[in-house]
Amino acid sequence: MGVSTPKILMSNQNRDAEYTMGRSEEETQRLIEQSQLYDDVTRRFFLRSGIAKGMKVLDVGSGAGDVALTLAEFVGPEGKVIGVDVNPDILKTAQDRAEAAGFSNIEFIAGDVRTLELPNDFDAIVGRLVLLYMADPVEALKQLVTHLHSGGIIAFQDTELELYRTVIHPDTPLINQLIEWGLTVFERSGAHLNMGMELYRVFVDAGLPEPTLHFEAPMGGPEGWPGFEYLANSFRSLVPLMEAYGIATAEEIDIDTLADRIQAEVTTSKRPLLLPPHITAYASLST
Ligand SMILES: C[S@@+](CC[C@H](N)C(=O)[O-])C[C@H]1O[C@@H](n2cnc3c(N)ncnc32)[C@H](O)[C@@H]1O
Repeated sequence: MGVSTPKILMSNQNRDAEYTMGRSEEETQRLIEQSQLYDDVTRRFFLRSGIAKGMKVLDVGSGAGDVALTLAEFVGPEGKVIGVDVNPDILKTAQDRAEAAGFSNIEFIAGDVRTLELPNDFDAIVGRLVLLYMADPVEALKQLVTHLHSGGIIAFQDTELELYRTVIHPDTPLINQLIEWGLTVFERSGAHLNMGMELYRVFVDAGLPEPTLHFEAPMGGPEGWPGFEYLANSFRSLVPLMEAYGIATAEEIDIDTLADRIQAEVTTSKRPLLLPPHITAYASLST
């Protein structure tokens, strides 16, 4: 177990989205917070898609390692998880967490998953919140399935930010403003705002079977619900790009009071906070 260096890492000619959330220790912690809020969505997804004991699974865009850690539980000690991320620094956190959790069945590799030399005998290829950053998700899936053996599972979970606009309501001016700011910065960075809804088309255009799909989102209102801090911390990660693009300033966003102000608006408007919805999609190759 350890973070391996890539065998082949060619320069990428595609223009991917700038990683909208930036790269910092705070962002790594935010990814872990995020994973806790969406953990049950991902676990239901793995159960439905058929990830099981003994499988060898590729985790695309591992980040701080949360998906790989969950996969390691699903496949058990007789299975194997290979996690890839283009950011070698974040993989050190992922590696430390895998060791602390006592998993010996996870290996992390630094590099661009589309150009790395990887085995061709995976039972499943999985990715969460990664296709939205890729310039051409169809080409990425076409390339990735070459690492899957016949009958293998392909399972991707991504956010759907276009539909998130439907939450806008006259009684929630703060949430409305945050959604507009957030969506504008993702759009400007080149990320696919509608990646969730696009998963169906991306699977079919990549020559895969039509996927089975689900739509889920954490939602809450009670005082102390971690979703308030999570949303505020997401804006902490977005501030540098929001300022660079001239969308809003750190003073306007006022991060330090943001979680409390969101919670206060939920209390006065009696409208719970909906976090960005995720769409899950899976299919199996024919045998
Ligand atoms: C939003 S994070 C999600 C992390 C993790 N999947 C999770 O859900 O907690 C997306 C990660 O994908 C990585 N990534 C983006 N494009 C990639 C690529 N082409 N190859 C490998 N990793 C990539 C980024 O570096 C980032 O760590």
